[in-house]
Amino acid sequence: MVVAARLYHAALEQVAHLTQSMAQHGLSVRVLIQSPCYHPDLVALTQVAVCQFEQGMRGAALELEFHGLQGVHDVEPVQMALVFPSKQKQQSKYWIAKAWQRLEVGGVLLLCCENQYGAKSYDDFLALLSGNARSSSKSKTRLVVAMRTEENLADEASNALLQRSLDEGEMQQVTDGFCSQPGLFSWDRIDVGSAMLMACLPSSLAGVGLDLCCGYGVLSRWVASHCAAVEKLYLLDVDQRALACAEKNMAKFELPIAYLWLDAAVEALPTGVDFVVCNPPFHSGQSRDVQLGQTIVARACQHLKKGGLLYLVANRQLPYEQIVKRYCPSFEVVKQASGFKVIKGVVE
Ligand SMILES: C[S@@+](CC[C@H](N)C(=O)[O-])C[C@H]1O[C@@H](n2cnc3c(N)ncnc32)[C@H](O)[C@@H]1O
Repeated sequence: MVVAARLYHAALEQVAHLTQSMAQHGLSVRVLIQSPCYHPDLVALTQVAVCQFEQGMRGAALELEFHGLQGVHDVEPVQMALVFPSKQKQQSKYWIAKAWQRLEVGGVLLLCCENQYGAKSYDDFLALLSGNARSSSKSKTRLVVAMRTEENLADEASNALLQRSLDEGEMQQVTDGFCSQPGLFSWDRIDVGSAMLMACLPSSLAGVGLDLCCGYGVLSRWVASHCAAVEKLYLLDVDQRALACAEKNMAKFELPIAYLWLDAAVEALPTGVDFVVCNPPFHSGQSRDVQLGQTIVARACQHLKKGGLLYLVANRQLPYEQIVKRYCPSFEVVKQASGFKVIKGVVE
């Protein structure tokens, strides 16, 4: 979610204000909230409106759940939608388009985004979609409001833009026969690091494997296609959309596969696995977070059985060796090229 806390509050205040005035006219208000993080005002909102929270990222979803904010599903049509864009343009426009589609006539979409993450482009996008968007700026953040009307509902250019945004942001076939979706890591081509890792993986991998931080399943597909002695695979990621694509990409394999929507940094992981393959994340939201990668690498080692194999790839400058060494004293860097390194460890 790319929005400063202060504007988050302002956006929710606006939603609450609109909701209350609709409720005063005897209307029960249905609100869709796309990609929210927990905020106390959300609790207040659920008391005056029927809310649907769309959150595919595990950490934020757990926090909402912790505060009793599960919301209801498939609320349709909605009178209001509040969208917090992601850092990826196509994905954000897809979210806006999906929300726009679900608004009834007279319904309002609010978008809240920091300027540095492309607020102006979403403002322009909503202007084209609605013909009536209004925006206000404060503290380097923009709040855009647009209304669904009979006019924009019948407008050809608006409908063409809506359809294009839906098509472009949808789960789709990309190169190498993968099913993927904008917003996922290296969504439309295999990452150079992941390709290097696959070139280093032995086809002798066997037993139970964990594709830790699996994305849309690039590494798992390699393992399932090349390693005949693999008996079971766990695919784990924090992003529900990545797992949905991974499931499609692995559907043709008869191997037992479990898809785990988990935060690998904090939640319980499968134990006693024979091997882990991993291209660890080093970003939390917008910011670089080396510690996240280090935590995940340590947890990968902790969940391998004695003698279990770790194969990971990382940007060359990322400091994972000290962590791996703790669990796999005789680890080796099996390849270094193009700014990446592949590390192999055997847990002792
Ligand atoms: C560098 S990508 C690798 C994806 C895939 N393995 C590949 O090679 O294309 C890292 C992945 O980690 C996921 N991720 C980020 N933080 C995570 C966390 N705390 N727990 C589990 N997965 C996480 C991201 O959603 C992303 O799919």
